[in-house]
Parts: sequence; C-alpha cells; structure tokens
Amino acid sequence: MNIILFGAPGAGKGTQSALLVERRTMKHISTGDIFRSHIKQQTELGRSAKVYMDQGKLVPDSIVVGMVEDVLKGLGSQNFILDGFPRTVPQAEALEGMLKKNGLEIGKALFLEVPMDDLMGRLTGRRVCSGCGATYHIASKPTQRAGVCDLCGSEVIQRADDKEDVIRTRLEAYETSTAPLKAYFAAQGKFSAVGGTGQTEDVYRRLVGQM
Ligand code: AP5
Repeated sequence: MNIILFGAPGAGKGTQSALLVERRTMKHISTGDIFRSHIKQQTELGRSAKVYMDQGKLVPDSIVVGMVEDVLKGLGSQNFILDGFPRTVPQAEALEGMLKKNGLEIGKALFLEVPMDDLMGRLTGRRVCSGCGATYHIASKPTQRAGVCDLCGSEVIQRADDKEDVIRTRLEAYETSTAPLKAYFAAQGKFSAVGGTGQTEDVYRRLVGQM
C-alpha cells in the first residue's frame, strides 16, 4: 500500500519512515530531504527553496509540485511513503492528477498526532547525521559518541531550521496550511490518526496497524 504520512514538524514522520523503509522495503519520498539534497548540491532549485526553508516558511506550491511530479514519474512498482507532501490543499489536489497520470494510488493518509507542547523539545533537541541523514535526539536518542553518527561515523549536526524562532514559524505554517488536510483526506475516506507519542516502537506498531 502507498501511504501519505503527515503531521506537524517533529511529529516523527522521518523516524517512522526510516522503520518502514527498513522493515517493509518501502520507498521514502521526503520533500524536505529532496530540498536539503538540492541545497547541498547548490542547484538552482536548492537556492530557491533555501530562502523559504531558512525562515520556516513553506516553499511555494509551484516549485514543490513540479519536483514531486518528476519523482513520481520515475517510480517503479515499489510501495512508497510520501513524507511532507502534500502540505497544502492545492498540493493535495495536484497530487490527485499526478497519481492518475502515472497509474498510482494512495491507500491511506496517516496522521501522526503529537501534542503541540511536545514538538518544540523534539525539534530543538534533534540532531541529524550530515552523511547518511540518520536522526537523533540529545535526550531521547543520543549518539554513542558525542557528535558522531552511530551508523556511518559522519558528523552529527543541528538542522538550520531547528532553531526556536524558525520552529515557531514552521508550526504556524503547519496550523494554517497543513492541518486542513485532515478534513480533506477524511472526505476521501483515507484519513487515519495515529498516536505519535510514547516509544518509537509503539508508534510504529500503531502505524502499521492502520495500513
Ligand atoms: P521537512 O523536512 O519535511 O520538515 P518537517 O515537516 O518540519 O518535519 P521534520 O523533519 O522537522 O519532523 P519529522 O516529523 O520528520 O520528525 P522526526 O522523525 O525527525 O520540511 C522542512 C522544510 O522544507 C519545510 O519547513 C518547508 O520549508 C520545506 N518543505 C518540505 N516539504 C514541503 C512542501 N510539501 N511544501 C512546501 N514546503 C515544503 O523527529 C523529530 C525529533 O523527535 C527527532 O529528534 C526524533 O528522534 C524525535 N522523536 C521521533 N519520534 C519520537 C517519539 N515517539 N518520542 C520522542 N521523540 C521522538
């Protein structure tokens, strides 16, 4: 089954996607990761996206939609997770057209539900590997050696947009533009909410229970 995984910044979309990739051999399509890879490679797309991402604002739909369309065109038969897309109702509408054109279907839109009060701590404490992208947390999931990725040995860093003022803007963008997707997917009969607090493994069990 192809799924959309959505939720507020810090809800655990990336963490749960990594488990689904490992255990269910699904393909992970994260618009945030694609943008960060473009920024690293200093492409034109990366330069355009960075202006918005650094401020915690959403990248304009016109840029995101074209980028996702290119990814969906090249997909084989492997089941996929859309993480971070769609993030606005116009993106969700554009996705419907793209799926149809490529003979693809979404089975479920799974919403990771985490109280707003938990999100700031998750995001300010998050650290990511600059090499393989593995995600850590200074309190709940620290690296074994300070600043060094357990998996590949690269440096572990703080994401540029994981600063308190930028996080606030991201949370506002989520409330205004992404939260309305709950009703959008519910109207299609595809919406399921998944409790996103507690142990990562418990969240995973709840998540796959809805698939
Ligand atoms: P993106 O990279 O998608 O960021 P996001 O949606 O803000 O989500 P995050 O990656 O911050 O959080 P997550 O839910 O993956 O949480 P994680 O698993 O890491 O987007 C970045 C930017 O790109 C956007 O702001 C925007 O500018 C742009 N963008 C991307 N897509 C776009 C689109 N479609 N349209 C327009 N613009 C777009 O977990 C967070 C932390 O919590 C980690 O430290 C983790 O260890 C910890 N954690 C995870 N699970 C648990 C748990 N169960 N209990 C305790 N801690 C936990």
